[in-house]
Parts: sequence; structure tokens; C-alpha cells
Amino acid sequence: MRARGATTGPGSAVPHTPARTLASYAWPLVALFAAIAAFAFASTPFGAAPVRAAGGSGNYEGVASCAGSTCHGRAEGNGAVVRQDEIASWQEPSSSAGAHSRAYAVLGSPRGRQIAATLGIGPATAAPQCLGCHATSVSAARRGARFQLSDGVGCESCHGPASGWIASHYTVGASHASNVAAGMVPLERPQVRAQVCLDCHYGSADGNQFVTHSMMAAGHPRVSFELDLVSALQQHHDVDADYVARKGRLDSVRLWAVGQAEAVRRQSDLFARPELSTYGIFPEFYFYDCHSCHRQITDGPQRRLTFETNPGRPIPFGQPPFNDENIIMLSAVAQALAPGQAAAFDAAAKDFHQAMGEGRTQAGQAAQRLRGQAAALSDALTARGYGGDEAFTVIADIAGQATSPRFTDYTGSAQAVMAVDTLLNAMVREGRVSQGAAAGIRADINRAYAAVASPGSYNPDDFRAALGRAAHSIEALR
Ligand code: HEC
Ligand code: HEC
Ligand code: HEC
Ligand code: HEC
Repeated sequence: MRARGATTGPGSAVPHTPARTLASYAWPLVALFAAIAAFAFASTPFGAAPVRAAGGSGNYEGVASCAGSTCHGRAEGNGAVVRQDEIASWQEPSSSAGAHSRAYAVLGSPRGRQIAATLGIGPATAAPQCLGCHATSVSAARRGARFQLSDGVGCESCHGPASGWIASHYTVGASHASNVAAGMVPLERPQVRAQVCLDCHYGSADGNQFVTHSMMAAGHPRVSFELDLVSALQQHHDVDADYVARKGRLDSVRLWAVGQAEAVRRQSDLFARPELSTYGIFPEFYFYDCHSCHRQITDGPQRRLTFETNPGRPIPFGQPPFNDENIIMLSAVAQALAPGQAAAFDAAAKDFHQAMGEGRTQAGQAAQRLRGQAAALSDALTARGYGGDEAFTVIADIAGQATSPRFTDYTGSAQAVMAVDTLLNAMVREGRVSQGAAAGIRADINRAYAAVASPGSYNPDDFRAALGRAAHSIEALR
């Protein structure tokens, strides 16, 4: 992801919306996201209906139908209940918050045109395999009078088709429950939100929501997903007393943890489908660790082995590993927050990796079992209480004895440092750790970032040492 909002460094003045606060405080976090997405270019080497899974029934009325100045079209976020400047945030030209309004336009940008030309699919602005994620791509029959494809990822891509509730959702007597009953998507629920975002920020089985390795080879950025971070970056609501009264307070650790579980559930679900997980005689490379194939090799006598044995992944030497960045995180989450399910999840993950060396059928079946374990963890992490210490426990487990040896590759390591930073930010946001205390350990966290600054210079030993130091200094704040 590009760090459009992240031009300031730590310690700069804290601007007003929560999203901007995060972007300016956690600049290396956002910058790392940018680096991961830009990897494909910076070095040699994220349902049956044509509609989104969360789409429900009803028609899509278009962004213009939300835009009145008594509705969501104000210039200032001073509405009595909701801010009412949501459209302005969605359109913000120079930050991540406005990315969705640009999603269609980027298809016609030089980069979008280049990708489409390389793939030979005609104009990207008319290609279903691009529009599935870069617009509210619904059949003509479900488009209301003011619907425009060029709106990009409009309000209803996330909040659901509005025909059932647009006229009633602000009236006296309407409640969140009545809106949801009329088809509004309950995005305050972590599992629902994760599934909505993952449709486009990882992929879905919908047919036109999947970024293949071919698209990446043609120039599409890698997509990487972390629910708490992406939520904060596109946030256009205030969590004020009124919001909490209507929808409850969403704990950041819960959101992050459920996001990891839903990511693994989605990955294993898609991988279990032969139509997505194979391409010609090959597996679909999208699912695998990019850097296992895209790294420099040398035949010289001084050759240094870069492959490291990984205790979480019993795969034959020389085989590309499934990209297990979210699997590793979920394993640490399970140890910390759902210990009764941790062993079963780890066993399913190990079997899944092992089955990759056995055959297509075995790998597909193992993926289904992994999906079952991830789904059970998602339910458990949604249901459990969060008291305040969880983030410390999770960070300790990420850097601890059981998980740390699994950081043998760039992608998992990058996800780990993002996790540590995200969880620390969550503690700051929720007032459990002061800004000052967090700033005091910035240097340690920045060293962990430096260790994943580039896939080319990544060294697992250095990374594990840096992560350990950062986790140690966070533990001291407990
Ligand atoms: C219909 C597809 C779709 C859905 C659903 C979706 N996104 Fe996106 N999102 C995109 C696309 C496409 C982009 C890239 C647009 C661009 O770069 O102009 C994007 C970009 C973003 C960015 C900006 C990243 C950057 O590099 O600046 C954030 C943050 C983001 N999405 C968060 C979310 C969150 C949170 C959710 C779920 C609540 C979500 N998105 C749901 C398609 C979607
Ligand atoms: C599975 C959903 C999905 C599909 C399918 C998809 N994209 Fe994307 N695309 C994204 C997301 C998400 C991003 C933002 C990535 C990030 O920054 O993390 C993105 C980013 C981009 C960007 C970079 C935007 C920028 O701001 O620089 C371009 C260009 C692009 N996509 C073009 C295409 C084209 C062309 C196609 C069809 C061949 C396509 N995309 C298909 C989800 C998708
Ligand atoms: C990428 C997904 C996404 C898009 C696109 C999007 N939203 Fe949201 N929106 C969310 C999420 C997530 C929340 C926070 C959870 C919640 O309360 O629903 C939210 C919250 C809101 C809220 C506050 C709800 C409350 O109860 O206080 C309003 C109002 C809103 N959005 C309006 C809009 C409008 C209008 C648009 C189009 C201009 C839009 N949203 C586009 C994801 C999205
Ligand atoms: C199983 C091995 C394998 C994996 C895993 C893999 N790739 Fe590739 N990739 C290839 C091969 C083979 C090519 C074609 C190389 C060529 O034509 O020279 C390629 C080509 C590319 C190219 C074009 C390079 C060029 O020279 O223009 C990009 C970009 C790319 N891959 C990105 C990715 C990303 C991003 C991922 C992870 C999501 C990934 N690859 C995962 C094997 C792999």
C-alpha cells in the first residue's frame, strides 16, 4: 500500500481524525505496507453471483444518492449523530482514506493501462477481472438511477445495497438493527468487516475478484492485508459516545486478531478450489511466498545457503512455501488468546504445508481442514472478552520461543513487525500505554523495521534479534 498520508514522522503534531493520527504516528508501519506492495517493481523481484458476498439483496443506488448536504455531503464533519462529511473523506485526494474513490480511475491511469495491455484484456476500465475490485461491480439489473461505475468502490461496496434502507435509515425510529434487517451490512462486527475487505484485499470466489500471479507479473502491486491497520487508514467515522451507544466499542486487538483468523480462513478456502489454485500445469503462484522464487541465486563456490529449515512447515527442500504470514500470526494469537485450540490449529497448518509435497488432492483436503480450524478460531476470538493485557501477551508470543523460529522468510517477518507496531498503536489509542512511553521504544521498533526494509537485504537472524529486542522493551511497559 502506498503511504499517501504518511509524509510526517513520529512526534509530529497530531492531526484531528483517528486515521490521520495513526498514519502520522505509525509512519514506518504505513511505509512498510508501501514497500511490500511496491516489491514487485522495486526489486527483481495480497459466491456464484457477479456481486460481492456481502452484497445482500436490493439495488445499488450510487454515491450521488448519499450526497445531500443534509446527508453525507457536508464539508465539515459536524453532524449530530454521524460526521456527515463521509463523502469528503472518501474523496480525499491525497490520502489512503480517499483511495476507494480513485479505484476506478486508476484502471485508466498509465499503470492500469500498462497492466491491461500486457495481459491483452482490452481497456481495464471495461475488463470484468479488474472491475470486480476496482468498482461496485454489479449487474445492470441491480443499478439504481444514480449508479455510476466510475464512482469506483462506492459506499455500497461496503455498506451494502441501499435500496432497502436509503429512505428510512435516518428517520425517527430507525435503529442500527432495523437498518441491518433492511440490508445494511453490519461493519462494526469484526468478522463481517474482515470478510468485506478481504473480498478485494485478498480475493474471493466470485469470479472477478482475484489477483492472479499473471496480473502481478504484468505489474499489479502485491496486496497485503491487516484489518486493524486498513480500517484505521480508511476510517471516516468518530468513535464517540453516541457511536458506542449505538454499536459498542470495537477493541483493536479483537479486530486485529479476528482479521488474522479471517485472512487464513479466506486463503485456505480459495486455495481449496481447484479453479483458483491451479493455472495450467502449475499451482497458482499468487498463494505462495513471492520471495522464495524471486531471489538471487549464485552458482559460485562461495555460495551461501539462504534456505532455512522452518519448524512450522515440513516441506521438501526447494519447494515454494505457501505464503504463511497470516498463519504464523494466527498461531501466535491462538497460543495467547485461545490456548485450547492452538495445538489443533498448528497441527492443521503443518499438515497443510506437508500436503503440498504430496499432491493436489491431499493439499486441497488439508486446506479445507485448515479452513475449519481458522473458522473456529475466528469464532472464539470474536466471542472472548478483551480486558487490556491481550496485546502484551500476543506480542510476547509473536517474539517468543515457539513462533520466532518460524520467521525464516521476508513476508512473515514483515507481517510480524507490522503486528507488533499495530498492537502497540492499539494500546496507545486505547490509553493503555502513553504516547511518551511508546515513543521511547520507537528506536527498537525502527530497528525491526530496518531488518525488513527490503527483501534483498533481509536476514532472518538479524530480524529475529531485532524483533526480540522490540518485544522485550514493550514487555517492560506492562
Ligand atoms: C470492492 C472492492 C474493495 C472493498 C470491498 C474494499 N476495498 Fe479497499 N481498496 C480497493 C482497491 C481497488 C484499492 C486501491 C485503490 C487505489 O489505489 O486507488 C483499495 C485501497 C484501500 C486502501 C488504501 C491503501 C493505500 O495504498 O493507500 C485502504 C486503507 C483500504 N482499501 C481499506 C479497506 C477496508 C478497511 C475495507 C473493508 C472495510 C476495504 N478497503 C474494502 C478495493 C476494495
Ligand atoms: C482482488 C481484487 C483486485 C483485482 C481483481 C484487481 N485489483 Fe488492482 N488493486 C487491488 C487492491 C486492493 C489494490 C491496492 C493495493 C495496495 O495498495 O495494497 C490495487 C491496486 C491497483 C493499482 C495501483 C493503484 C495505485 O494507486 O497505484 C492498479 C494500477 C491496479 N490495481 C490495476 C488493476 C487492473 C488493471 C486489474 C485487472 C487486470 C486489477 N487491478 C485487478 C485489488 C484488485
Ligand atoms: C471500504 C469500505 C467502506 C466504504 C467504501 C465506505 N464506508 Fe462508511 N464505513 C465503513 C466502516 C468499516 C465503518 C465503521 C463501522 C461502522 O460503524 O459501520 C464505516 C462507517 C460509516 C459511517 C458511520 C456509521 C455510524 O454508525 O456512526 C457512515 C455515516 C458511513 N460510513 C458512510 C459512508 C458513506 C456515505 C460512504 C460513501 C461516500 C462510505 N461510508 C463508504 C466502511 C466503508
Ligand atoms: C513458484 C515460483 C514463483 C512464485 C511463488 C512467484 N513467482 Fe513471480 N514469477 C515466477 C516466474 C517463473 C516468472 C516469470 C519470470 C520470467 O519471465 O523471467 C515470474 C514473474 C514475475 C514478475 C515479472 C518479472 C519481470 O521480469 O517482469 C513479477 C513482478 C512477479 N513474478 C511477482 C511475483 C509476486 C508479487 C509474487 C508473490 C505474490 C510472485 N511473483 C510469486 C515465479 C514465481
